[in-house]
Amino acid sequence: MMDRVIEYVHTRQILDSRGRPTVEVEVGSRGGRIGRASAPSGASTGSHEACEIRDGDPDEYAGLGVGHVLRTIKENIAPHIKGLDCMDQQDVDQLMVDLDGTPQKTRFGANAILPISLAVSRLAADHAELPLYRYLGGVGACDLPVPFVNVINGWCVGGCVFRVLLFNFINGGAHASHALDIQELMIVPMGAKDFCHAMRMSCEIFYSLGELLRSKNYSVNVGDEGGYAPALSSIEEAFSLLSLAVKKAGYCEGEDIFFACDIAATELYSDSCYHLKREDKQFSRDEMIEYLAGLVKTYPLMSIEDGLEENDISGFAELTKACGDRVQIVGDDLTVTSEVRLKEAIELSAINTILIKPNQIGTLSETLRCIALAKDHGIGVMISHRSGETEDPYIADLAVAVNAGQIKTGSVSRTDRVSKYNRLLRIAEELGGAAQYGTFLKNKRFT
Ligand code: PGA
Ligand code: ZN
Repeated sequence: MMDRVIEYVHTRQILDSRGRPTVEVEVGSRGGRIGRASAPSGASTGSHEACEIRDGDPDEYAGLGVGHVLRTIKENIAPHIKGLDCMDQQDVDQLMVDLDGTPQKTRFGANAILPISLAVSRLAADHAELPLYRYLGGVGACDLPVPFVNVINGWCVGGCVFRVLLFNFINGGAHASHALDIQELMIVPMGAKDFCHAMRMSCEIFYSLGELLRSKNYSVNVGDEGGYAPALSSIEEAFSLLSLAVKKAGYCEGEDIFFACDIAATELYSDSCYHLKREDKQFSRDEMIEYLAGLVKTYPLMSIEDGLEENDISGFAELTKACGDRVQIVGDDLTVTSEVRLKEAIELSAINTILIKPNQIGTLSETLRCIALAKDHGIGVMISHRSGETEDPYIADLAVAVNAGQIKTGSVSRTDRVSKYNRLLRIAEELGGAAQYGTFLKNKRFT
């Protein structure tokens, strides 16, 4: 036990996939072992998320520095963590939650708390001499998730909003350049026989979509999450190109491959209306629900994330009523990995699936509690990256640990995205014959 005592917490600034500073933490034990983790960062962040704190000094990294957070860790958190057993994850996390003492972690910032929480679990796994997924999930952790692979990124690189807490000021903004009105379109290789096969199918469709776009003189530049970001004329055009790409790659839509989308509707919402600017359309809430239900009828769409804005929980319930029997209605900004918000959503039957982003809530323990609550109520669990990521593949292990059965971690380009898929390929190999694939989705019917 003495070996597992946390002896030091070291922190440094590293860079994320957008070249923005982020926080990395190393936690060391008396036994000489080390656990390391870093904080990802969102762009279309929900207003109910735990806060991300940045320095706001325009002379350094355009205000995006994390020097203040590094000092907070050193001065206000590390002294309390030292001396604790790294296997007491809940105690470590609760201590940080209590020290912060605010509902959205506005005192320390989730970007201070989360990397410590994750690094402590890695240290504990190392002491247990187990891979992270096995340490977190036990012997039953063997379900490789169905990847939701981003192939079209609606919003371009660098054009993303960042809402950060600059000490006490919330900064907002708007996405600058839209290639498509919705945030992302994904392919879902439901028909794959295993995870390795799922990645092969996804890559082949990604290549064939690239060729198709090139042949039509569209850009094949990629967005923050690695999908192509062509300036298409409509969502319908995006779906039909996708259908063609699936066919050209030799797969069958609605059997091998389904589609999924993240509307990120909060970003489209103003003056009580949803504005699809590229298509010059405006929808009321009811029209938006009708529009989305229409897409479900027309395309092999099996998952719609954030179809409505983050505060319209009764609208989500309407949407779930309209098409939740045929499609996953996924809460992201609506639920922000919060047990409290998920409870509300369950009571109103507002969603049937929750997106899980650990930095939306700020600690591993709270993340695991939210996942457990979802599972207890038959709500699907999709583990997710953020649009700003590091090479840290933590969420790959998390997805297997909790047998989520689904992961959304971008395209098959950009190493920040591929690092998660590669980690899953290694886990699949390690599990060998014990590995399963997408058990949760296997028994569902999507039409
Ligand atoms: P983010 O959203 O930009 O807030 O990370 C990503 C997503 O939901 O796909
Ligand atoms: Zn989302």
